[in-house]
Amino acid sequence: MVQISEVKDSQSRERRTAAHTHIKGLGLNEHGIAKNIEGGFVGQADAREACGIIVDLIKSKKMSGKAILIAGPPATGKTALALAISQELGPKVPFCPIVGSELYSAEVKKTSALMENFRRAIGLRIKETKEVYEGEVIELTPEEAENPLGGYGKTVSHVIVGLKTAKGTKSLRLDPSIYESIQKERVTIGDVIYIEANTGAVKRVGRSDAYATEFDLEAEEYVPLPKGEVHKKKEIVQDVTLHDLDVANARPQGGQDVLSMMGQLLKPRKTEITDKLRSEVNKVVSKYIDQGVAELIPGVLFIDEVNMLDMEIFTYLNRALESSIAPIVVLASNRGLTTVRGSDDDIKAPHGCPPDLIDRLLIVRTLPYNQEEIKTIVSKRAALEGSTLTEDALNKVAKHGVTKSLRYALQLLAPAGVLSTSAGRSEITVEDIEECELLFLDSRRSIKVLEENSKFL
Ligand SMILES: Nc1ncnc2c1ncn2[C@@H]1O[C@H](COP(=O)(O)OP(=O)(O)OP(=O)(O)O)[C@@H](O)[C@H]1O
Ligand SMILES: [Mg+2]
Repeated sequence: MVQISEVKDSQSRERRTAAHTHIKGLGLNEHGIAKNIEGGFVGQADAREACGIIVDLIKSKKMSGKAILIAGPPATGKTALALAISQELGPKVPFCPIVGSELYSAEVKKTSALMENFRRAIGLRIKETKEVYEGEVIELTPEEAENPLGGYGKTVSHVIVGLKTAKGTKSLRLDPSIYESIQKERVTIGDVIYIEANTGAVKRVGRSDAYATEFDLEAEEYVPLPKGEVHKKKEIVQDVTLHDLDVANARPQGGQDVLSMMGQLLKPRKTEITDKLRSEVNKVVSKYIDQGVAELIPGVLFIDEVNMLDMEIFTYLNRALESSIAPIVVLASNRGLTTVRGSDDDIKAPHGCPPDLIDRLLIVRTLPYNQEEIKTIVSKRAALEGSTLTEDALNKVAKHGVTKSLRYALQLLAPAGVLSTSAGRSEITVEDIEECELLFLDSRRSIKVLEENSKFL
């Protein structure tokens, strides 16, 4: 017998929450002043306002080649601030987050890895007016001819494509190579396409809305019939990063210029990207910028845990910051005075960065939270995770936030939720929190246990 079960409401789908899911932006008003609780952020007003200024500078493109350090004790929202900056900048500005230790790998030199990430953080907006043939496909007939090499097979000698716009129709006789790209884009009658006159590249824009049916089974984008003539000039805008261009150009059969590389961006096959190749790409890019075809969009490279970098990377970083096409570099560190990795004399330096780098930085400081702020952050997280706490329990967790750490306090929420559910309660109570404290040690307590037993927990 066939079983039929009811489809459950899709609203009940479980949501995953990550550490920073509740952060939605910096939460500033139109004058750049931090609202007390906004965009998921609570308190930390000075640091948020400083980040707001940085966002403005980046947007007005006055900031490239500068570096900012967000410094402060653990769990004071440094990583959260960097994420909020990227949210404020929007999706069009490249944002490349890495952790200091990511630069060490056995395959790629660490300086080369840093350069790669630099170039991921620099965008290029290419605006081009191209001569194109655009319209709805009304005819698509490959014409065959006898194979010139003899034999029984036939080859396509050319293809006839009929294009229609609101103004008229045109029939084009195209080279067989263009027929291949038409097939690759899966163009059929009724699609709106354009063909670049110079290169013969074919781009499918969407399906003509004359073909839109009421019952649409496939996700299809319907576009109106193009206005104007079939043969015309059209402005095309594309956003890429310099790294995209490096990758596209590292391909053996890569095209001759930036623009012909664009079509190949999505194919993931890598060969090595050398310094020589990068400087070639730079040359072409600066030519396009001079001609006004392209515009540079410096984005953000965020390096978390900057104390993980070593002397060699730091000197390279200094130089890279001085190049004419550098992104804004945001660093974060929770260290005070520590030794810089790879320095000879093992002298201590602030935040684990060499003094000459510190000198170039704008430093934003984050401060520890008070109990009231921690209480608000905890209740926000609890709401996000779908659990409710009694007022007493909330106060208790907040107190842990002050005496132990904010992370420990936030960490307690999920297991306390499990305890309360298994006890059949809908709210997390003080007892649940207390039980969790017994089950899960905070860092200080685990250190104490270690000291007493000297070897293991
Ligand atoms: N002001 C705030 N408002 C709301 N949530 C916050 C705030 N500050 C921190 N948080 C949250 O607290 C947690 C810890 O913050 P975060 O990871 O940003 O700290 P951090 O300063 O990067 O710490 P570390 O130095 O250990 O890397 C995160 O879940 C973060 O989203
Ligand atoms: Mg962090």
